Amino acid sequence: MEKRKIVLIPGDGIGPNITTAVKKVIKASGAEIEWIERKAGLGALEEDEDVLPEKTLDAIKEHKVALKGPCTTPIGEGFTSVNVQLRKVLDLYAAVRPVRNLSGVNTRFSGVDLAVIRENTEGLYSGVENTITPGVVMSMKVATEKACYRISKWAFEYARHRGRRKVSVFHKANIMKLTDGLFIRKSREVSLDYKDIEYEEIIIDAGCMKLVQDPGRFDVLLLENLYGDLISDLSAGLVGGLGVVPGANIGEREAVFEAVHGSAPDIAGKNIANPLALLMSAVMMLNHLADTEDREDFRASGENIKQAYNTALEEGLTTRDLGGSLGTQEFADVIVKNMDN
Ligand code: NAI
Repeated sequence: MEKRKIVLIPGDGIGPNITTAVKKVIKASGAEIEWIERKAGLGALEEDEDVLPEKTLDAIKEHKVALKGPCTTPIGEGFTSVNVQLRKVLDLYAAVRPVRNLSGVNTRFSGVDLAVIRENTEGLYSGVENTITPGVVMSMKVATEKACYRISKWAFEYARHRGRRKVSVFHKANIMKLTDGLFIRKSREVSLDYKDIEYEEIIIDAGCMKLVQDPGRFDVLLLENLYGDLISDLSAGLVGGLGVVPGANIGEREAVFEAVHGSAPDIAGKNIANPLALLMSAVMMLNHLADTEDREDFRASGENIKQAYNTALEEGLTTRDLGGSLGTQEFADVIVKNMDN
């Protein structure tokens, strides 16, 4: 099979270490991939480039698919998030984060199988922030009919194609009557075309409580940008933490696959981060290519990787966040060893 060129952005903090681990596993899986490595984030700044260099964007536009490590964003000052910029510039409007129990990872709940669908381009992440007068600042929440409609449509299509039974919209339309009001109106409108899928609207504060009391009652969660960001991490906590939740940012043209977690500066440089969330994102990427480019060889590689990491987890051979004692690279080596070569 022909090699598929894919853009790889190692990112910051734990990013380079976990991408090295993932590259090793992908290579062992037999997936015919040629990585086109490009910088973004602090790594790009250090080379006197923009945080999101044009040549990185051009490469993603050319090859359509990228695997991305986390990029650091300064807190309370400095440049705009590279991650938010990338999603907006490429109009990667749908973030999908599958959240599932993994065998061998003991958590408070069993039977968790959620998909968090997050609107990725607007809401409070529009970056419209102003100083009105000294001591008074403002941040604007933006909602458009177009974006609310297309993310709802995307979520219902996702639910139908995956045989999911229910879409739950989390909102705060009792307070933000215009913005969240528009979001639920569009979701409700779209739901009418999907009579086979149950639809419910839940005010997000009560939704958070229900999610941590009984996550099994949920299936697909549909949320605007900020809520999607928060609920993704909360949901990760239900199944073992940020080390085990993958993600994808999907647009009409390009798709960028990345873990839900960030650059984890507290553990960077120690070779203890869990590479699994990025590896699972890479498996989502292989399945995406199988679906969109008829690359069944990639689906087989993805299955190979999945059974290899499941075996490792069942044997307790994991990183510290999951109760094991392996380093990042050692965990990847175990997965490689388990692979059906
Ligand atoms: P974080 O997700 O980086 O870390 C939160 C906690 O989870 C930390 O204790 C960390 O050690 C742990 N953790 C995260 N990933 C892990 C892994 N793979 N294995 C083991 N433990 C892991 O979130 P935080 O600390 O809020 O943000 C750090 C930086 O990352 C910030 O600059 C933030 O803006 C950026 N960030 C980037 C994202 C992206 O690139 N898509 C997403 C989220 C945050």
